[in-house]
Amino acid sequence: MLPRHVAIIMDGNGRWAEGRGTDRTLGHTQGAEAVRQVVRHARKRGLEVLTLFAFSSLNWGRPTDEVAALMHLLEEFLVEEEQELIDNDIRLVAIGERAFLPRSVRDLLTRVEQRTAHCAGMRLVLAVSYDGRRDMVEAIRRLTDMARRGELLPADVHEPLLLEHLSTGDLPDVDLLIRTSGEKRLSGFLPIEACYAELVFVDTLWPDFQTTDLDEAMLEYARRERRFGLTGAQVCVPA
Ligand code: IPE
Ligand code: IPE
Ligand code: MG
Repeated sequence: MLPRHVAIIMDGNGRWAEGRGTDRTLGHTQGAEAVRQVVRHARKRGLEVLTLFAFSSLNWGRPTDEVAALMHLLEEFLVEEEQELIDNDIRLVAIGERAFLPRSVRDLLTRVEQRTAHCAGMRLVLAVSYDGRRDMVEAIRRLTDMARRGELLPADVHEPLLLEHLSTGDLPDVDLLIRTSGEKRLSGFLPIEACYAELVFVDTLWPDFQTTDLDEAMLEYARRERRFGLTGAQVCVPA
């Protein structure tokens, strides 16, 4: 079965560049190329949602020139891909701490979000300056604010309500989460949304990630048995 929502931790740009004796920035430039291919391919395959971890809240701690290069690449991506997204009926949405982003990036994100708002073929979610725990704190803040205004009682707080107030509130849960570069951790990415996701870790560094690697991960997903707490016999549909 095809996953509805695929999320990718695009890791290994730095090591890709260092392995070639070049600047880490070149790894990010090549990484952006891989993003373009993967987005196109995901649309072709009929995914409903593709969420990409582009920049974490902790990534602000990297050297200033690397952060600047990443912000510049993001701007370039948004400018160059806007028409392509519209032509392919892809709606772009950004999640993360927008207020921390440079004004130019914020404005571009808003512009592309608005211009693709009508697109219904696929949702491309860019996680920028994102951290799942911070996102949860924001959701709780919204709920406590509602409570303060008298619009919410403690008894009204239930799971769907909390999920609704996350920045991913209107998206289906993550079905398949892929991380490249051989690292096997989540690094704060979608901790609630991916709590029942199938995890696929590949050694490939992100700039080398091909459309065939995405297909391979989706095949691996299709081979898995998702039991959601039940027994194998319960989920096994008789032929
Ligand atoms: C992922 O590649 C891109 C970002 C985190 C922005 P890295 O830059 O983390 O690459 P490595 O892990 O240093 O190889
Ligand atoms: C996670 O990668 C963030 C992105 C891929 C954008 P990192 O390379 O920053 O993660 P850690 O610090 O190694 O866990
Ligand atoms: Mg990394």
